[in-house]
Amino acid sequence: MKNKKTRNNYLNMLKLCIEFKIRAIFLSIALIGTSFLSSYPIKYIEKIINICISSKNDNMEVFIKGGLIYLILQILNVIFRALFEYFNADLESKLGHKIRIMLFEKLEKMPFKFYESNNKSEIIMRLVQDSSVTVDGILQPLTFIIKNILTFALGFIYMYSIDKTLTLIMIPIGLIISIFVLKTGPKISKLSYDERESNSKLWNGFSEALNGIREIKVNCQEKRILKDVERSSYNTRKVIMNLKKYTIKVGNINSAIVMSIIALIMILGGYKVIQGTLSIGGLTAIMMYNGLLIDPIVDFFNLFQQMQKVFVSCDKIFLVLNHSEEPVNLKTLKDSFNENIKIDRLYFKYINDDSGFYNLNSISLQINKGDKVALVGYSGSGKSTLCKILVKLYDDFEGNASIDGISLKDINNENIRNIIGIVFQDTFLFSGTLENNLKFAKPNVSEEELKNALEMSGVSLFLENLPNGLNTIIGENGFNLSGGEKQRVSICRTILKDPQIIILDESTSALDAITTSIVMKNLLELFKYKTVIFTAHKLSNIANVCNKIYVFDKGSIVEYGDHNKLIKKDGLYKKMYNAYE
Ligand SMILES: Nc1ncnc2c1ncn2[C@@H]1O[C@H](COP(=O)(O)OP(=O)(O)O)[C@@H](O)[C@H]1O
Ligand SMILES: [Mg+2]
Repeated sequence: MKNKKTRNNYLNMLKLCIEFKIRAIFLSIALIGTSFLSSYPIKYIEKIINICISSKNDNMEVFIKGGLIYLILQILNVIFRALFEYFNADLESKLGHKIRIMLFEKLEKMPFKFYESNNKSEIIMRLVQDSSVTVDGILQPLTFIIKNILTFALGFIYMYSIDKTLTLIMIPIGLIISIFVLKTGPKISKLSYDERESNSKLWNGFSEALNGIREIKVNCQEKRILKDVERSSYNTRKVIMNLKKYTIKVGNINSAIVMSIIALIMILGGYKVIQGTLSIGGLTAIMMYNGLLIDPIVDFFNLFQQMQKVFVSCDKIFLVLNHSEEPVNLKTLKDSFNENIKIDRLYFKYINDDSGFYNLNSISLQINKGDKVALVGYSGSGKSTLCKILVKLYDDFEGNASIDGISLKDINNENIRNIIGIVFQDTFLFSGTLENNLKFAKPNVSEEELKNALEMSGVSLFLENLPNGLNTIIGENGFNLSGGEKQRVSICRTILKDPQIIILDESTSALDAITTSIVMKNLLELFKYKTVIFTAHKLSNIANVCNKIYVFDKGSIVEYGDHNKLIKKDGLYKKMYNAYE
């Protein structure tokens, strides 16, 4: 095994599967049955051949009896094998299900930034491929140990009872093979790792290309992307071939050694038969038992090779399982939001931004209950970043941020996210009906509430054009809706969620001027007594409705006041205001 960490990961994975022990016991019993019944009947072959050679042909009864016992044993063998196959498939599917769900549950608890430093295809690969490889890695050793050790031991004992010398020859050769196989470990492990990594890159290439198919088409870049994917695929092919070439080589050297044992036993066995120290039945049985001894040796190599892949996958799974989660069991705001949001000299930097600058630089502001606040500034000035911090998508900031006096870092994420509703700049819709998308945050809203929210968000303005109204199927990520329609769906979702603080992050940016003013008017009416934070770079719609305006520039707040004060100031705000008028 590669190292201590890998070993611990694998052992921990076995521990996680301990709940299936009863099933594993059933599986083991069936396996012991079939292993025993695969080797035991050979004894009858030895007997029958020997009787055949030694006696006259009038001994039919012995053949019939022998044949019947053989038949019964083989039927039992088939039954045990079928049971084993069933239990194996059952355990395999249950383990796969458990690992996938465990992994997904953990993924849901991961801090948001985990998704910024890990690409999605790699995560999906862990859910789909690594989990199934790991299941193999749990079941195969179990099966191997029971089946092969038993078969090997029984074969060895039977063979030994027929001829000691011929059996003992196997030991040194078996040892040589084992050492040989173990020595190949590090190389197979490295090649398996390369195979997994290049597969992950390939998946990523496919997924990016399919997600960006619109850009590829309109920019006529099909050929270039095909070339990229081809390069990736070629690399995967090469890596797979490297692994295959190596395992074919090692596997066949292994087989050659094994075959030479058979040849040796044939020669020595034949010599013994001529010498009269071994019966023909004995030699035949030994040759058959040989098969029983050789299978475990070959299986050992296959398992060994497979386990290198398993360790790679298991490590990948534990990178997720051992990752720190979003904190829970923190404080909750007692009843509701009552006083204010205070931010004092807050600094924040994205982990994957290596410009050396803070994305938010000493931000201080205060939002009181009922305020209508605007965060304005050029795009890239840090408005959305602050909004995401408020809903705790990131909590590794420096400085202070509190809600009703409790530090944001100490408040339960779920609590915060129930109090604050956010409409993001870029809306994500799930495939399914429009209605399910609208009710996403609150599935049990009444007809009345839904109707009102449709009206207020401006969804009703395009609803009648949809072929099936609320039951219209929305394609993957709202494929069949326009940008402005998607934004309205997102606003409607938040209205239905009915939070106490609402963040509208450029949430009308894709709407035309008339629709924007209708929706804005509705929202201001609807959220009259609520706390609302708008962000915008176009200022006309929010200028007069916000009692507080913070002007952002390159991550800092450079101006603060209400519209009139800021216009008088003749600074960045005025410049931006005039630019969009
Ligand atoms: N996920 C991210 N990772 C790294 N940098 C980011 C990320 N999101 C935004 N940024 C950077 O942070 C800065 C502020 O972005 P943002 O808050 O989205 O600006 P705004 O909403 O004002 O347009 C920009 O320079 C942007 O490039
Ligand atoms: Mg933004």
